[in-house]
Amino acid sequence: MCGIVGAIAERNITPILLEGLKRLEYRGYDSAGLAVLDQAGTLHSLRRAGKVAELEQAQKDIKLAGRLGIAHTRWATHGAPCERNAHPHFSGTDLAVVHNGIIENYETLRRRLQELGYVFLSDTDTEVIAHLLHYHLQQQPELIPALQATIRELQGAYGLAIVSAKYPDSLFAARSGSPLVIGCGLGEHFLASDQLALRQVTDRFIYLEEGDIAQIQCDTLHIWDRQGQPVTRETLQYHEGAEAADKGAYRHFMLKEIHEQPSVVQRTLEGRLGTHQVLLEAFGPQAAALFSQVENLQIVACGTSFHAGMVARYWLESLAGISCQVEVASEFRYRKVVVRPNTLFVSISQSGETADTLAALRNAKDMGYLGSLAICNVATSSLVRESDLTLLTHAGPEIGVASTKAFTTQLVGLLLLTLALGRSKGSLAADQERQLVEELRCLPTRLDEVLSLSHTVEQIAERFSDKRHSLFLGRGTQYPVALEGALKLKEISYIHAEAYPAGELKHGPLALVDSDMPVVTVAPSNELLEKLKSNLQEVRARGGELIVFADAQAGIEHDQTTHVLNMPHISDVLSPILYTLPLQLLAYYVAILKGTDVDQPRNLAKSVTVE
Ligand code: G6P
Repeated sequence: MCGIVGAIAERNITPILLEGLKRLEYRGYDSAGLAVLDQAGTLHSLRRAGKVAELEQAQKDIKLAGRLGIAHTRWATHGAPCERNAHPHFSGTDLAVVHNGIIENYETLRRRLQELGYVFLSDTDTEVIAHLLHYHLQQQPELIPALQATIRELQGAYGLAIVSAKYPDSLFAARSGSPLVIGCGLGEHFLASDQLALRQVTDRFIYLEEGDIAQIQCDTLHIWDRQGQPVTRETLQYHEGAEAADKGAYRHFMLKEIHEQPSVVQRTLEGRLGTHQVLLEAFGPQAAALFSQVENLQIVACGTSFHAGMVARYWLESLAGISCQVEVASEFRYRKVVVRPNTLFVSISQSGETADTLAALRNAKDMGYLGSLAICNVATSSLVRESDLTLLTHAGPEIGVASTKAFTTQLVGLLLLTLALGRSKGSLAADQERQLVEELRCLPTRLDEVLSLSHTVEQIAERFSDKRHSLFLGRGTQYPVALEGALKLKEISYIHAEAYPAGELKHGPLALVDSDMPVVTVAPSNELLEKLKSNLQEVRARGGELIVFADAQAGIEHDQTTHVLNMPHISDVLSPILYTLPLQLLAYYVAILKGTDVDQPRNLAKSVTVE
């Protein structure tokens, strides 16, 4: 999704803006631009469709330099991804704006501004903001009151960075629904939509809150809240994340992140396990009192995080005896929901900034839930700040757009939650908890064993190089794993992939099966295995090619049309975590064969901060 970088300093800030944009590339975008105020007081702008590298190349010819500037990577929503629609957008020659989010009433505002004589040069909603601010500056020349008047008229979501040649000593910012963070240096300040963009210049950050606006100068900083009152926001020192900046020995971030899973799962478990049980304190001081009242769970999430929630539902109902509903946030937020008594609202999100998930949480506050718990990877995110309880997954920054380590650490977090709730409710036997805690401790080793099978998965991937469609099957907890495997494959290889609970095969998808449609099956030995084997026979009988991930006990034999990857044995409960890895590797190696942009697949964004 779109990214914002801004800077004000006593040195040339253009390289800082460009470096910041590069660090935001992983979020997904299709054009980039910047505006820099030069020493003579002229505001220059440069924009390019395509990658930041093209903007950087153009900058080498023009050599923009200045001490105040803003920059942006755009992921097209209103208007095609072309240079004309790239940010910054100007009103006149001396006021420039970059924007994340969507202005929902932009058409009305645009018509009104056109009637006032403003000429629009782009198809974007953002240009409306620039002209509206210009209009309010004509009514009264102070920028902060004019900005307040402007945002009072905006409906929708925005993170804004603004520069004006008339205010050469200030960078302006406003946020509502899109995150913004101020980076603090010595006699200089920076601004970004994600602190990762500023890690090269500072490790001290101030997170703007919903409705805040800020005037940022080299030495000073003024922030006003939604009511227009001056406020001070806490400065936080950021420690983790430096390791995410480069790919190390790996060809792609995604491959690096797949291989990090044993160590990050270890980190998710750290400090959360007692000798024989999960520590309730891991969920915060209020957890013990709250968990004992929980009778139902409502899980809400998007994308890969939603699949984690689907796995958790099987665990929560079978191990903790707690009834659980799981829904994608974009549906939940607009649906009339009947809340059952004593329901805990659980949101799952890697970024903690996904617009639909955040909106669902905000709606849930007035709906009568017992409280809210966020399972999230980013400690400073809006979701964490706005939830009653938090379990951080500690996966470290995830750069590849296709989520990998975030998913497996979410699963670990959700299993910890299941065990904690099961004990609080008295529905999980101490022996069973003890055994699962032991198995969780061994999980990083099991994950390492699966990663050592990479080469075999790479060979299996060759079977997909000329395929256009594929089917993924699983039963029980392996059904959401199949969904996640299909999502990974379609995201990065662009091969059409669908997942079905294996029992549904004969109700439709079997009609598609032929030798051109590989059928990927996750088949650990468990009580559903015999049922699954019957489904595999249905595929074989139609000449389908099977790719099966199974352990030796499953007894599935390799033959001409059945390719089996032998997985290490693991208990049924933990199997969804383990069986996710070969599916991630499969998607990765197929994408390599297809020659796609693995870390930044077309049309997709890492963090979806608009609806
Ligand atoms: C985007 C990402 C996915 C992610 C989803 C939800 O679609 O590309 O990888 O699963 O958003 O993101 P969240 O940060 O809320 O987990």
